[in-house]
Amino acid sequence: MLEKNVNLCGKTVLITGAAGFIGANLALVLLQEVENVKIVGIDNMNDYYDVSLKEFRLKQIEELTKKVSGTFSFVKGSIADRKCIDDIFAAERPDVVVNLAAQAGVRYSIENPDSYVESNLIGFYNILEACRHSYDNGQKGVAHLVYASSSSVYGSNKKIPYATEDKVDNPVSLYAATKKSNELLAHAYSKLYGIPSTGLRFFTVYGPAGRPDMAYFGFTDKLVKNETIKIFNYGNCKRDFTYIDDIVTGVQAVMQCAPLPNEEGVKYKIYNIGNNKPENLLDFVEILQDELKAAKVLPEDYDFEAHKEFVGMQPGDVEITYADVSELERDFGFKPSTSLHEGIRRFAQWYHEFYF
Ligand SMILES: NC(=O)c1ccc[n+]([C@@H]2O[C@H](COP(=O)([O-])OP(=O)(O)OC[C@H]3O[C@@H](n4cnc5c(N)ncnc54)[C@H](O)[C@@H]3O)[C@@H](O)[C@H]2O)c1
Repeated sequence: MLEKNVNLCGKTVLITGAAGFIGANLALVLLQEVENVKIVGIDNMNDYYDVSLKEFRLKQIEELTKKVSGTFSFVKGSIADRKCIDDIFAAERPDVVVNLAAQAGVRYSIENPDSYVESNLIGFYNILEACRHSYDNGQKGVAHLVYASSSSVYGSNKKIPYATEDKVDNPVSLYAATKKSNELLAHAYSKLYGIPSTGLRFFTVYGPAGRPDMAYFGFTDKLVKNETIKIFNYGNCKRDFTYIDDIVTGVQAVMQCAPLPNEEGVKYKIYNIGNNKPENLLDFVEILQDELKAAKVLPEDYDFEAHKEFVGMQPGDVEITYADVSELERDFGFKPSTSLHEGIRRFAQWYHEFYF
């Protein structure tokens, strides 16, 4: 296990993408667990998916701040706006930065490439520049930059489980290319300016108030609307799913351990963060069906079979993907503990509360 070298108590943490799924849940956990933490959140509240979900998450954070010692202040703005970022850094002097703001989604990048370049490249560059200048004039500056990468950097690699030492030079989407670029840019800035940085390659994260563009959420929406769901490769796929609370526990642990210089003297690290227990797509759909019925999202007599359409593999898709998370386990004792049944149950209960 690594020794903690960043104490978050009483510190200022900047979370970008704070109204997003992972960002908001990270803010909630930090406020609950870290004494006097000062969180500054920024999010541009874009409408890539239903904005009311982002507002709901911010409301949850606002409610929690009434009961805890820490604080949360929110800036509605874009990380692609250099002045906005520089002003936040000048006013707040964050000790730790967690960059989660990004344009996500693989398919969306075909119609909307600009938003990926703006948020994922220009936005991340602005964060790096602000971190760099945080040390100017002998200031103590940013102690650790943690940023989101993605499992999509593995492209259509055949070797599983995906491990951080695998070659990831063949992205198959603009989204993946921007995430790989983030890792490269972070390396250059860590090397040149000594910014300790850790990139996290997230695998599919799910849970209450999650992202509607993800399969479990999209399937639920479709079933509720009496539409059919497409089951690719006739259900013969295995995927990694990690419950949001397990992910946030991992991110919080990582934040407290800024990387020490590696063999090249660079304070730089990349981890996979996921679950190395891939689940069969058909089992997953079965669990979803049971839990949606139990939570009364679907009626008890819902004819599930009539709503399933078995189709072939999508071009470029791979049969089985999952993460090798042994490094995260070795360095932080990371072990996701929420079963798929339990996680989907909490999602289904939330879905009922939110939409019915
Ligand atoms: N959830 C997953 O399964 C998963 C998997 C792989 C990678 N990731 C990465 O993790 C990070 C967080 O993902 P998430 O699931 O919480 O996504 P999310 O879309 O819910 O959150 C991202 C947030 O960033 C905001 N945002 C986008 N562009 C911005 C900009 N220019 N300035 C300010 N805010 C901006 C969005 O409004 C959104 O609220 C992202 O970088 C994503 O690419 C997530």
